[in-house]
Amino acid sequence: MLSKKIQEALNDQINAELYSSYLYLAMQAYFESQAVPGCANWMHCQAQEEIVHAMKIYDFVHERNGKVVLKPIAQPPLTWPSVLAVFKAAYEHEQKVTVRINKLVDLALKESDHATNNFLQWFVSEQVEEEASACGVVDKLKLVGKSGEALFQLDKELGQRVFTPPAAQQQ
Ligand code: FEO
Repeated sequence: MLSKKIQEALNDQINAELYSSYLYLAMQAYFESQAVPGCANWMHCQAQEEIVHAMKIYDFVHERNGKVVLKPIAQPPLTWPSVLAVFKAAYEHEQKVTVRINKLVDLALKESDHATNNFLQWFVSEQVEEEASACGVVDKLKLVGKSGEALFQLDKELGQRVFTPPAAQQQ
């Protein structure tokens, strides 16, 4: 059984993961309008991953006999000044998510909820990957600079990203 505090914190995290998905969909839409389909594909995969994150927590709350409470999802930004600005914003967003996950772990430990702490360790590892992949694109875009040709090539590379459905992912 989850404590009220942890249940609320997990519900807030479901909302944060769904907002992440929403944010990446908004970034995808921006890229669609900027004729960078590879960047749009990268964000589409990212948005799908965030749904998986949200559902993992959703299922865990039920498994612990808790109550899922879905709250309104905030509106993400509509536009950004450049392709680089979008990926920088994505990287900053992932850093904020990491802080949230760490706070959740702190709370689970404070409440001696070892099952929740154990569950959250998957997210601790996932955030290392999430930050690294967004930061990796930021670094590449910095190398690309103002070269249209290099951006064209990088966009093609980002177009190769494939979303791996949950059943095929390591749980
Ligand atoms: Fe759900 Fe991108 O962290």
